[in-house]
Parts: sequence; structure tokens; C-alpha cells
Amino acid sequence: MKLFLVLLLVASALYGAKVVEVSKEYQKSQNCKACHLQIVKDWEESWHAKSHYDKDEYFSKSIEYVARKTRKSPNSVKVQCATCHNPRIAVTDTGLDYEIQVLMGLDEDSKVNKAIESSAINEGINCVVCHNIDKIHHDRDDSFRGMNRVSWTKSGLMVGPFDDTTSPYHKTEYRDFMDKKADELCFVCHANDRSVNDLVFTNMQNEYKQQDKACVDCHMGRKILGVASILRAEDGHAKKREVRQHSFEGAHAEDMWKNALNLDVWQEKDEIYIALKNPQPHNIPSGFGSRELIIDIAYMKLEKIIDTKSISLTRHYTRRKGKPTIPHLAEEMSEDMSIPADETKVIKVKNIAEATGIEVKVYYRLVNDEVRSILELKEAIWAKKNLINSKSIVLQ
Ligand code: HEC
Ligand code: HEC
Ligand code: HEC
Ligand code: HEC
Ligand code: HEC
Repeated sequence: MKLFLVLLLVASALYGAKVVEVSKEYQKSQNCKACHLQIVKDWEESWHAKSHYDKDEYFSKSIEYVARKTRKSPNSVKVQCATCHNPRIAVTDTGLDYEIQVLMGLDEDSKVNKAIESSAINEGINCVVCHNIDKIHHDRDDSFRGMNRVSWTKSGLMVGPFDDTTSPYHKTEYRDFMDKKADELCFVCHANDRSVNDLVFTNMQNEYKQQDKACVDCHMGRKILGVASILRAEDGHAKKREVRQHSFEGAHAEDMWKNALNLDVWQEKDEIYIALKNPQPHNIPSGFGSRELIIDIAYMKLEKIIDTKSISLTRHYTRRKGKPTIPHLAEEMSEDMSIPADETKVIKVKNIAEATGIEVKVYYRLVNDEVRSILELKEAIWAKKNLINSKSIVLQ
């Protein structure tokens, strides 16, 4: 036991995230607008910009729920989640001392509360998260993610994909994880997300099947000729460069989910086969744990619907005694129903004798019924069914 404690202390001393304060002139994306206007606008629309308790209902309600069920203060849970959701926060863990302060109502002026309420972090995953990463520590255990997997540059040094830039506002340096190895940057956080019981409920790095495209090719668009900064150089022109968008579109964006899966439907005697092929390099649904695919089937007789059937492909999470819960509190989870990269899932349903045709619609939903009801999510986007693909066939 003693040895274990010592090892644990050594490990956290070695790997514990080191806070590097960001000076005021770099804290906010507003500070970058004058010279990187389009990039800031793209980013503002992205879900990275929403990675803050005040800006994402699903995130904030998950925090409250975890706090209630684990009997911790919500602020302690916020700090825990900040590892990936808000990695420039000024405190990296909270201890028993803090819990006692909260119980006694003495936490108001604490370092923890100040860090959480600081306006420096209310932009979530902003410019100085990605562009201030000095090094990604691949040597660390897989469970070290977000702020625990990186070290930060000195405030004012921006790392980027170019090795020949100069800027009057900040220093610049090249890093390969901003360029050829950008997948590694994404996996700092998009991997190994685990519950309080150490159950890894999503791990994009494991499920990923390398194709000819990198994460940035699909989630930041193709490289196009443009400018990295609108600031004019000595010759009176801004330098032309190959750049990408900063929109990080994903499961919240129609042009991403639409046609994300290929759908095929056919009949063999009194059975209907529905094949879903996933051409993307990661599972769909993927990423966060309670996403869902819904297959709605309508049996038609001439123009009229005579019967319907709905199939849900999602994952369920349980706590003690098999009680349903959210991914972050799970002890166990059901079989993964998502469709792996480059694979096809075939589902068989019975035909109805009098049907003359069948229509199949495949939808994507951000949060399944179970978790929406546990957390009492109110906003419409979590329940909305987003059409991925549809197909009708005439039956024999
Ligand atoms: C999630 C990580 C991430 C965040 C957040 C982010 N960037 Fe980037 N940024 C990248 C990557 C990756 C590239 C390299 C893209 C490429 O291949 O050209 C990049 C490239 C750039 C470039 C070079 C031009 C280009 O398109 O290659 C500039 C300038 C830049 N970012 C500024 C910003 C600013 C300003 C913000 C905040 C509004 C920001 N970035 C937020 C990851 C990020
Ligand atoms: C006064 C103008 C100005 C401001 C303000 C500014 N930058 Fe820049 N930035 C530049 C210029 C100029 C370049 C180089 C452009 C080029 O060579 O194409 C640059 C380049 C970059 C690069 C690419 C570096 C590389 O070598 O790949 C990043 C990343 C970046 N800036 C991030 C930021 C962030 C984040 C902020 C806000 C905190 C910011 N910049 C504010 C002018 C500015
Ligand atoms: C510092 C941690 C971190 C890094 C680095 C990071 N992400 Fe994210 N990303 C997140 C978090 C957290 C969210 C969820 C935010 C939310 O919804 O509140 C997210 C959301 C997204 C989404 C939106 C998903 C959806 O459901 O719409 C996409 C797409 C995405 N990230 C792609 C990338 C790519 C590509 C990279 C690498 C260039 C990257 N991310 C780097 C943490 C990170
Ligand atoms: C060939 C294009 C492609 C590549 C490469 C790609 N993705 Fe995606 N990704 C998609 C599409 C399309 C979706 C939207 C599908 C959906 O969720 O319905 C998506 C969805 C996502 C989501 C939201 C998933 C969810 O269900 O919550 C995240 C997060 C994400 N991608 C991250 C990444 C990361 C990180 C990488 C690199 C390791 C990557 N993607 C590589 C096409 C791609
Ligand atoms: C290992 C890094 C990591 C940690 C730690 C982490 N998250 Fe996340 N979280 C992510 C990433 C990456 C995404 C985006 C995944 C996607 O959209 O597919 C995300 C997405 C989410 C979402 C979905 C948001 C949306 O808009 O759909 C919720 C809710 C969430 N996280 C809650 C939490 C809570 C609560 C904690 C702390 C108990 C936490 N996360 C800790 C990486 C992390």
C-alpha cells in the first residue's frame, strides 16, 4: 500500500499538468480577430467554442448529475472535466480540503472558485489550447489525456503548420502535430474518455482505421489557397498560403451527418435486408457515448403506410445493480451497436405479406432517450432526428 502511494505521488509529480499562465493579450479569441478574422469566425461556430459549462446544456447537466451521484461539489467535477474540456484552467485538481471548504461555505474566495469563474477559460477549447501546445507526451500512459498529455509553450508563442512565419503580435514556431501529424493533436482529447469507475466508454484512437485522409481533411475541410493572417507584409500584400477552415464540424452539422453512411435495402423472400456501410475512418455513431442511430421502416401498400418499425442502435450504461446511468458514471456498458469504420452492418427484418413497398430512413440523434430523460435535457437539438440516408424499394 505504502509503495503504491509513493508510486502514485511520483507519477502525479511526473505527469501532473503544469499550469502556464496565459497573459491577458492572448487569452481570448477576440485578441486574434484583427489579423485572423475568418479563423476566429469559423471557430466561434464550432463545438470547441461551446466546451464550457455555461454553453452546452448536455455538458453542464452531466456535471451536476455526476456531482450529485458521487457526492462531490460540482466545482470539483468541473475541474475534473476541464482536463479535456477546458485545459487552460488555473487549477488541475481539488482535494478533500476543498470539499470541506465547500461544506462550510468558505469556498467563495478559494483558488478553485476563482479558476472556474475566470473569464480566461469561458471560451472552452480556444486558440491558446491548440496553438500553445509545446509537446505531446506519447510516452505517458494512455489514460493521461488533455492537459495531462501535453506541456504548454511560454505565453505568447504560437505553434502552427508553417516554418517561415513572423508576426508582430506573437512569436511563432512550427510543430509537426499542426501539420503532417495533426491526428496526434486530436487524439490528445478524442481518445480514452472514461467514467468515474475507470470504464473507457469511448476511444476514437482505438477504433480509428487510417485511410488516406486525416481528421483535419474532413473536420477542417480541404486546404485552399488563402491567407493565414490578413496583416499586410512589407510588400503591401498579405502572404498567400494553403489554409483550412476552423469550423470543426461534426455530429452537430448537417453537411457532415448527411450521407455519412451508405444505405442498401433488398428483399429475399419474406425477409428484408438493410445494409449500413460506414466509409468513414471511425465508428458511426462515435465519439461521445450516448449517440444513436435510428432506423425507421415504413411498410407501404400502394401509397399508404400499413405498418412501421423502429430500430435503435445505441449503447446503454449501467451503475450498481444494473441501474441505467450516463456514460460518465458507468460501471458496465452494453454491446457497442455502432458501425465500425470501413465495415457494413446488415439488419434483417420480417416482411409483411400485403406490403407492396418499403421505405427505410436512417437518422442520427445526439442523445438517446434514456440519457435525455435521466438528465432532463430540454433543448431540442439533443432529441432531433437528423436524416442520414433513405431508400425505398418495391416488394415482390
Ligand atoms: C482544436 C485545435 C485548434 C483550435 C482550437 C484552433 N486551431 Fe488554429 N489550427 C489548428 C490546426 C490543426 C491547424 C493546421 C491546419 C492546416 O493543416 O493548415 C491550424 C492552423 C492555424 C493557422 C494557420 C493557417 C491555417 O489554416 O493553416 C492559424 C493562423 C490559426 N490556426 C489560428 C487559430 C486561431 C486564431 C484560433 C482561435 C480562434 C485557432 N487557430 C484555434 C488547430 C486549432
Ligand atoms: C497584429 C496581427 C496579429 C494578431 C493580433 C495575431 N496574429 Fe497570429 N499571425 C500574424 C501574422 C502576420 C502571422 C504570419 C502569417 C503568415 O506568415 O502567413 C501569424 C501567424 C499565426 C499562426 C501560424 C504560425 C505558424 O508558423 O504556422 C498562428 C497559429 C497564430 N498566428 C495564432 C494567433 C493567435 C492564437 C492570436 C490571438 C491570441 C494571434 N495569432 C494574433 C499576426 C497576428
Ligand atoms: C483539448 C482537447 C481537444 C483537442 C486537442 C481536440 N478536441 Fe475536438 N472536441 C473536444 C471536446 C471536449 C469536444 C466537445 C465539446 C462540446 O460539445 O461541448 C470536441 C468536439 C469536437 C467535434 C464536434 C463533434 C460534434 O459532436 O459535433 C469535432 C468534429 C472535433 N472535436 C474534432 C477535432 C479535431 C479534428 C481535432 C484535431 C485537429 C480536435 N477535435 C482536437 C476536445 C478536443
Ligand atoms: C473521411 C472523413 C473523416 C475523417 C478522416 C474523420 N472523420 Fe470524424 N466524422 C466524419 C463524419 C462524416 C462525421 C459525422 C457523422 C455522424 O456523426 O453522423 C464525423 C463525426 C465525428 C465526430 C462526432 C461523432 C459523434 O458521433 O459524436 C467526432 C468527434 C469526430 N468525427 C472526430 C474525428 C477525429 C478526431 C478524426 C481523426 C482521428 C476524424 N474524426 C476523422 C468524417 C471523418
Ligand atoms: C479524455 C478527455 C475528456 C474528459 C476528461 C472529459 N471529456 Fe467530455 N468530451 C470529450 C470529447 C473529445 C468530446 C467530444 C466527443 C464527440 O462529440 O463525439 C466530449 C463530449 C462531451 C459531451 C457531449 C457534448 C455534446 O455537445 O454533445 C458531454 C456531455 C461531456 N463530454 C461530458 C463530460 C463530463 C461531465 C466530463 C467530466 C466528468 C467530461 N466530459 C470529461 C473529452 C473528454
